Amino acid sequence: MNYPVWVVPVIGSGWVIGIIAIIHILISHFAVGGGIYLAFAERKARKENRKDWLEIIQKHSRFFLYLTIVAGAMTGVAIWFSIALSSPEATSALIHNFVLGWASEWTFFIIEITAIIVYYYTWNRVSAKKHEAVGWIYAISAWMSLFIINGILTFMLDPGKGWLSVAGTGAEPSKFWEAFFNPTYFPSLLMRTLVCITLAGLFAMVTASRINEEKEPKLKEQIVKWSAKWLMPAFALIPVAALWYYLMLPQANKDLFKLGVSTIGQGIFTQLTRNAVFLIFASIILFFIAYVFLWRHPKSVKLSHALLIILLAFSIIGVTEHMREMMRKPYVIGNYMYSNGIRKFDAEKFNSEGYLRNTIWTTEESKTTWHIQDTMTSEESDNLSSPIQPDLYRGELMFRGQCIACHTTNGYRSISKLLKGRDEASIRSIIDMLHEYKEDSPYRKFMPPLVGTKGEVDALIKYLDSLINKIDQ
Ligand code: HEC
Repeated sequence: MNYPVWVVPVIGSGWVIGIIAIIHILISHFAVGGGIYLAFAERKARKENRKDWLEIIQKHSRFFLYLTIVAGAMTGVAIWFSIALSSPEATSALIHNFVLGWASEWTFFIIEITAIIVYYYTWNRVSAKKHEAVGWIYAISAWMSLFIINGILTFMLDPGKGWLSVAGTGAEPSKFWEAFFNPTYFPSLLMRTLVCITLAGLFAMVTASRINEEKEPKLKEQIVKWSAKWLMPAFALIPVAALWYYLMLPQANKDLFKLGVSTIGQGIFTQLTRNAVFLIFASIILFFIAYVFLWRHPKSVKLSHALLIILLAFSIIGVTEHMREMMRKPYVIGNYMYSNGIRKFDAEKFNSEGYLRNTIWTTEESKTTWHIQDTMTSEESDNLSSPIQPDLYRGELMFRGQCIACHTTNGYRSISKLLKGRDEASIRSIIDMLHEYKEDSPYRKFMPPLVGTKGEVDALIKYLDSLINKIDQ
């Protein structure tokens, strides 16, 4: 624990990131796809000399500007705040490993933001050729920002063998490119690009739905139909991209999927399979709606239809991201750092030296007392006039440091609910399993090992017991 712990009651810190991230992902992918859409749409309208169409594109670019620059940038910064608070150790690791990546990312952000502002404010003010060029500068730099962030995001799922072999030695920068172009990089890039293009088509419906169908029926029909075509690449290629992605996953993740699929017949749905089944159905419904409403009845598209479709897309993105999060457990950076910020290779050290010994967030006095207790032989402790009681404060620090990344005391994934009805001995047996972390322990699939000395583990048990059974010390 090198950083203070951010305690978020009820929903837990993970959901703070989750909620912000899902909104940001929707907007940022639209920002990439929408840029490509604007560039192609303007080209087409100018080539066919369609003034009415150009006017609509200009309106669409205003909606685009507000949504991406204001909401997109704000949620992007909010992600930084929330990850830095809830996973400071992982955020720091990502910053240190990808200095070049971040620097390039922010360069593209600046180009992107400047280009879209120039694009919007120079409609009818510069030559058609120049205006289109600015549109392309935006589209390319926006896609490049995806190209870069995709490397960092996929790294977190699986950093790849090369990088893992030097992790912790200080030689990580020599494996920058291997870490960046990790095994799931390309399938994920393809998948995300398809999502971007789909969202561009969906968001265009918001603008198109507001065209008056009585006054301009032809225009509305043409724009809705042309925009609906943007859903086609995803329809054809997402299954291919998904399969490719699956094949590149680490074996442990594949096994998790297989377990889920092979147990469907028995009615056992793991969270992953449930999500996968939802995704397949939701995508089919999305394309069905797109076909029936957008393709067959383009003139009757209303704003409410457009918003409903976007809501569906939003839920698909939410579930996909949740799946990625579930797959990554118990790690925040695959095979390197657990979700609670503990590096895999530090586990042994914490078991022998003590977990809290290495934190600056408690007094030296407490540390000294705990150290004396932990290193006392049983003979020495037997000779004490009063036996040592594990201390609740120490237990609470253990809980905050190692469990609160995924659990809350009384809200989401509530530890009180999960342990309800257990007495101290029964809590001990579960906690011992987490601490021993045997090869065949079912907990290994989603929980990191509990690390620390015997005294620390006892203190955690005592704290949990006091929480569940309301025992005061
Ligand atoms: C990486 C995230 C993560 C961390 C860190 C984590 N857990 Fe969990 N834990 C889970 C998940 C996921 C479940 C399954 C929850 C469910 O079934 O609703 C779970 C379930 C549990 C259960 C119920 C197990 C059962 O068999 O019923 C207990 C008890 C528990 N955790 C205790 C802890 C303790 C104590 C810590 C800290 C030492 C901890 N967890 C750290 C993710 C985590």
